[in-house]
Amino acid sequence: MSVFRLNGPQRSAVHTRTNKLANNRGHAIVNAAGWDQATPDQIRTGLQPAAGLQGKGAVLLGIDHVGKSFGDGQIIALDDAKFEISDNEFFTLLGPSGCGKTTLLRIIAGFEHPTEGRVLLDGRDIGHEPPFKRPVNTMFQSYALFPHLNVRQNIAYGLEMLRWKPADIKRRVDEVLDLVQMPAFADRRTTQMSGGQQQRIALARALAPRPRVLLLDEPLSALDLKLRKAMQSELKRLQKETSLTFVMVTHDQEEALALSDRIAVMNKGKVLQVGTPEEIYARPKTCFVADFIGEANLIPAGLVGLADGKTISIRTEQISVRSRPADERRSVEAIVTALTFLGADTLIEARCAGDVPIKARVRGAVSGLSVGDRADFAWDHSSEWLLSE
Ligand SMILES: Nc1ncnc2c1ncn2[C@@H]1O[C@H](COP(=O)(O)OP(=O)(O)OP(=O)(O)O)[C@@H](O)[C@H]1O
Ligand SMILES: [Mg+2]
Repeated sequence: MSVFRLNGPQRSAVHTRTNKLANNRGHAIVNAAGWDQATPDQIRTGLQPAAGLQGKGAVLLGIDHVGKSFGDGQIIALDDAKFEISDNEFFTLLGPSGCGKTTLLRIIAGFEHPTEGRVLLDGRDIGHEPPFKRPVNTMFQSYALFPHLNVRQNIAYGLEMLRWKPADIKRRVDEVLDLVQMPAFADRRTTQMSGGQQQRIALARALAPRPRVLLLDEPLSALDLKLRKAMQSELKRLQKETSLTFVMVTHDQEEALALSDRIAVMNKGKVLQVGTPEEIYARPKTCFVADFIGEANLIPAGLVGLADGKTISIRTEQISVRSRPADERRSVEAIVTALTFLGADTLIEARCAGDVPIKARVRGAVSGLSVGDRADFAWDHSSEWLLSE
């Protein structure tokens, strides 16, 4: 299917005429005959890739060997980051505090310039473009809502700066308030709202100018656990409904796994691995990734008769604990050091030869096993993963 992009008056004309055949970024479909091959979802959203690109996998953002140092090169915040983010992707930068997540987000937004490398949008270097000229918007961790303005004025502010017409601003503010399910709050002062409500308004404000990329820096970190879970579903819904590319920063691996199409795991300024949640979880490349994502056991391979010097990773839920070894499975003997009942599961911690720690998470409560007991920790060969670093 051939696709092209329109701007300005042309864009709005096509948008009105073809309605379902043009999405909200002006990607208009010129070969309407191809629509009989489109999925119902594509027809509903009018979503199509940019010129020359095919489907959801089309590259939107390229992080091309980006490096950033501060203080005359004393602090290396980013070291040769290289990966691509696709159109319509929910992409997450995940890593511990200080690993360079916010720095990378600020470079994409244009608030920070890379010391090395380039940021590409649709293959074009956008390094020279100031933040307000990039089709990128940021939702800041602090929300940064204006306390002296009401909700409607907060959302309208950015559109006024972009010189939208008053009638268009009103329509768009109503649209985004509907999107975040807050139409009743239009005239409320933002200081008279809860954290979750402010977060929705900050999201509405960031979505209002129809950016192609929405950057979210720890968007849920100010919320309590219950609200955080509810807002996770909300973020996922918004990303699907708007068909935008979301780039989210978090240090919460559970949140990253639950929301993302793909994740970049970072540590000390380096991007260690990029992959789907399933890939990152089941096939971590390094000890750091295995340890950071979920609860993994890192066992020296030599302990189970494999290549010495390497490490194998086994997820805690893949290990069963029993009194006697079984031939067909891999196993190590260990002495139980702690049993912790967690409600749905019990965590069994133990030490095997060489004082190597091993943990198993088993369903329900455990009977007939006590601290100090010798037990066999076993797993299928298929659930172990040899780490390359
Ligand atoms: N303006 C700056 N000047 C000097 N050093 C900076 C500056 N901004 C960031 N850094 C340093 O760069 C490194 C990466 O910082 P960054 O804010 O990107 O981390 P982060 O992954 O977002 O961490 P957190 O999860 O704590 O927000 C840190 O060591 C930080 O101290
Ligand atoms: Mg940060």
